[in-house]
Amino acid sequence: MFAKMIRDSVFIKSINNLDSSSRHKYFLLFIGQIALSLLDLFGLVCIGTLAALSVSGVQSELPGSRVSKVVEFLGLEGFNFQNKVAGLAILAMTALITRTLLSILITRKGMSFLSFLGARMARDLVARYSLQDRTGVLRFSEQEFLMASTRGIYALSVGILSSAIVIASDASLFIVLMSALFFVDKNLAIVSLLFFGGLGTILYFSLSRRSKSLGRQEIDLYASSSQKISEGIRGYRDILVRNAHDWQSQRFYSQRFELARVQANTIFTPLISKYALEISIVIGAVLFGAYQLILKDASAAIASLSVFLAAGIRIAPAVMRIQQSALQIKNSSGVAASALNLIEELSVIELNMKLDPSDETFEGRITLKEVDFTYPLSSEPAIKNATLTIQPGKKVGVVGVSGSGKSTLVDLVLGVLTPSQGTIEVSGKNPVQAIRYWPGAIGYVPQDVFILNATILENIVFGFENELSNNPEDQRNYVHGILDKLNLGNWINSLEIGLDTEIGENNVGLSGGQKQRIGIARALYTRPQILILDEFTSALDRETANEVVKLIEESSPQTTILMISHDPELMSNFDVVIQINSGSLKVVKRKL
Ligand SMILES: Nc1ncnc2c1ncn2[C@@H]1O[C@H](COP(=O)(O)OP(=O)(O)OP(=O)(O)O)[C@@H](O)[C@H]1O
Ligand SMILES: [Mg+2]
Repeated sequence: MFAKMIRDSVFIKSINNLDSSSRHKYFLLFIGQIALSLLDLFGLVCIGTLAALSVSGVQSELPGSRVSKVVEFLGLEGFNFQNKVAGLAILAMTALITRTLLSILITRKGMSFLSFLGARMARDLVARYSLQDRTGVLRFSEQEFLMASTRGIYALSVGILSSAIVIASDASLFIVLMSALFFVDKNLAIVSLLFFGGLGTILYFSLSRRSKSLGRQEIDLYASSSQKISEGIRGYRDILVRNAHDWQSQRFYSQRFELARVQANTIFTPLISKYALEISIVIGAVLFGAYQLILKDASAAIASLSVFLAAGIRIAPAVMRIQQSALQIKNSSGVAASALNLIEELSVIELNMKLDPSDETFEGRITLKEVDFTYPLSSEPAIKNATLTIQPGKKVGVVGVSGSGKSTLVDLVLGVLTPSQGTIEVSGKNPVQAIRYWPGAIGYVPQDVFILNATILENIVFGFENELSNNPEDQRNYVHGILDKLNLGNWINSLEIGLDTEIGENNVGLSGGQKQRIGIARALYTRPQILILDEFTSALDRETANEVVKLIEESSPQTTILMISHDPELMSNFDVVIQINSGSLKVVKRKL
C-alpha cells in the first residue's frame, strides 16, 4: 500500500513526467543541495572545537581528546594557542560563507532551470492541445485548461519540484546539525531531535489537510471567478442593454468573496507554524538552560551551549522550511494534479510528427465512405452513413436546416472530428495527414471568423510567414490584390498604415462582414485547391455574397469547393447540391 501511495504521489508523477535530461539535472540539483550540508558540518565542528579550546585555554587546562583530534586532523597542532584559535575561526568562516555563496548560486540556477522547465512543459501542453481532435478539446472547459496550463504548471515546477529540493537541502542540514550536536552531547542531541522533529511533524500533520483543501478550493474559486470576469467581458453588450450590471457583479463577487476568505486562510497557515515554533523554542531554551546549570560542569556546559546556540539558530529555520515546503507541496498538489492529468492525457499526441517526404501532388478529391459520427455524451448520430465523392475542381453546395449536421460534416472533412465509423480521405490520405503533407492546400472559412490581436496582414498570413519574410513586397501586393477583389481595397486604403493596422480586441474594430472577408482572404492566401466554406456569407448582403462566390468560382476554376449556405441561390452554378436532414445526406441537384 505504501509503495502504491508513493507511486501515486504527485511528486513522483511529476518526476516521471520529466524528460531524461531534465530529470538528470533535477537530481544534480538535489544532490548539490545535500552536499552543501557537509560544509555546514565542517564549519560547525570548527566552531565547536574553537569554543572548547577557548574555554580550556582560559582555564589553562589541556583540551579534551576529541578536540585534540580535530586540531590534529586540521593540521593545526603545531601552532600556539592564539594561532590555533585564529586558524579555526578562519576555517569555520570560510566553510560557512562558501556554503552560503554556493547555496545562492545553486538556488539561482535551480530556480531558473525549474522556471524554464515550466515554460517548456506549458509550451508542449499548448501545442498538444491544438493538435487534438475537437472531441478532445471538448473534454475540458477553457478555464480548466487555462488554469492547468498556467497555475498548474507553475505549481508543478515551482510549488512541488522546487519545494522538494528545499526539503532535501534542509533535511540534510538538519541531520548534520543533529550529528554535530550528538558529537558534543548525546543526551542533548536526542532531546533536541525529539523536540524539533516532533514539533515539525505535529505541525505538518495538523496543517496538511487544511493546506491541501485550501489549495483545492483556491483553484476552483479562482477558475470560477475568472470565468465570471470573462463572461462579463464577452457578454458586455447583453449586460449593458439588459441593465444587468448588479446581477453580473453579484455573480462575480460571490465567487470572489469566497476566494478572499480562502486566500486569507492560505496566507495565515504558514504563520501558525511560525508562531508555534517561536513559542516552543523559548520554552525549549529555558528548559535547556536549567538542565545545563543543574547537571554540567562549566567547560562542557559552555561548549555544548555554544554549539546548541550555533546549531539552534539554524535548526529552527530548517525545521520550519521543511515543514512549510511540505505544506506547500500539499497546497500545490491539487492544481498540479490537474496539470499532470492533462499532461498524461495529452502525452499520446506526438509533437513534431515526422512525415516521410512525399512527391505526390495534392489532388482536390474528397471521399467519404459510410461515415457515422456521434458526439460524446450524445445518443443520436450527428452524421449517418454518409457516402460521397467529390472530384477535383467540382463545386458542391450543402443545405439543411439548423442543427442538421452541416458543420459536423465540415469538421469531419477537415479532420477536426474523427468519424466514429467509416473513412474519409482528402487527396487519398486521412484529413489530418493531408493537412500535414500539404499545408495550405485546404482552405477553410468558418462561420465565425477568429480574429487575432495582430495586424491585418498577420491575420491574413496567419502561420504562413515564410514566404512573406522571403519576399515581403510581392506578398503584400498579393494580399492587396485579394482584398481588392473582396471589396476591401477602399477600406484598407482609408487606414493610415493600411495592412499594418492592428485589429482585434482593443484595436480597430471590424464589422461582421469585414471580419468574414478577412477570413476569406486568409483562406485564399495559401492558394488552396480545396476550399471549404461554412455559412461564410451570413454577415454579407446578398449582392456582396454573390460577388464573392462568383469571384471564388472564377478565380479558382481548378479548386474544389464545398460550401454550406442557407441560401440555395448562391449555388445556382454549382455541380452538386446536397441536402442534410438529421445527419443523412441526399443529393438534391446535380448539374447535367
Ligand atoms: N459538442 C457537441 N456535443 C453534442 N452534440 C453536438 C455538439 N455540437 C453539435 N452537436 C449536435 O449535433 C447536431 C448537428 O450540429 P451542427 O453544428 O453540425 O449543425 P448545423 O447543421 O451546422 O447547424 P447550423 O445551421 O445551426 O450551424 C446538432 O443536433 C447539435 O446539437
Ligand atoms: Mg453550423
